Amino acid sequence: MKTFTMPGTDIVAPNVLLGLMRIADKTDDEVRALVRTARDAGIDFIDHADIYGTERNGCERRFAEALQLTPSQRDQITIQTKTGIREGYFDFSYEHIIESVEESLEALRTDRIDILLLHRPDALVEPQEVARAFEELEASGKVRAFGVSNHTPRQIDLLKKYVRQPIVANQLQLSITHSPIIAQGVATNMVAEQQSITLDGGGILDYCRLHDITIQTWSPFQAGFFSGVFLGSPKHPELNAVIDRLATQYDVPAIAIATAWITRHRPRCK
Ligand SMILES: NC(=O)c1ccc[n+]([C@@H]2O[C@H](COP(=O)([O-])OP(=O)(O)OC[C@H]3O[C@@H](n4cnc5c(N)ncnc54)[C@H](OP(=O)(O)O)[C@@H]3O)[C@@H](O)[C@H]2O)c1
Repeated sequence: MKTFTMPGTDIVAPNVLLGLMRIADKTDDEVRALVRTARDAGIDFIDHADIYGTERNGCERRFAEALQLTPSQRDQITIQTKTGIREGYFDFSYEHIIESVEESLEALRTDRIDILLLHRPDALVEPQEVARAFEELEASGKVRAFGVSNHTPRQIDLLKKYVRQPIVANQLQLSITHSPIIAQGVATNMVAEQQSITLDGGGILDYCRLHDITIQTWSPFQAGFFSGVFLGSPKHPELNAVIDRLATQYDVPAIAIATAWITRHRPRCK
């Protein structure tokens, strides 16, 4: 597994990370097998969110219960989680960020979160409140680094005006079949091309590259927004023919080709 030191942190991250959004109904054995398989492949970076699971902190709790990490085992993995989504609305208030981190720490049975992401933009954000929460969480050692998810360049600029810590990651939806953050830049200013329409607030890929923000990708094998995987799907015959040809050529499974398509892009699409 290729690794790199995430800009703005001292975290050595693998090129691929393990998202645990779908473990709510898995048994302890299944969760352990999933994490062990990832670790064996060199994936020691885990992505959570407070809202994953059928109840709040459900997947974080499921993970901690199944793994029962000792302190030294905890030191060997990077744990990232997210805050800012409540039942039916977004909330980047100081109170909510602090409260949700406390809940995540308790559910994860740990004393620190390695990276905390603001999950989806809050239209009513007061960036000074975010800055105050980040200062407090960093000073207390409860959070080591901070990032965002689903944010546009201007939303990040607004945060950066007040937040002192570097924004180290932006987690965005990206797969071969959902690639507007890449396609828009290729088709820019071509009126006839639907993909020239800016969906990301304008050049988020290059913005992150310019500002040393690692892009993490979500739903890397989904055709659209949780609409089923494209790999092996009869809805995508031409795409699968190309993926299968390359998989045979490089003697790897098809999923490796779909992953490599993402990791080939910069900055560090994981
Ligand atoms: N920041 C955000 O807003 C956001 C939003 C969504 C997700 N996320 C993060 O991104 C992570 C990944 O998202 P995701 O779970 O939607 O992504 P995904 O990996 O594209 O989709 C996972 C689903 O696809 C299935 N699958 C994967 N490869 C397959 C294959 N080769 N053949 C058939 N089925 C296959 C899996 O089934 P099996 O379980 O049977 O393998 C699973 O049900 C989440 O865990 C979460 O950490 C973040």
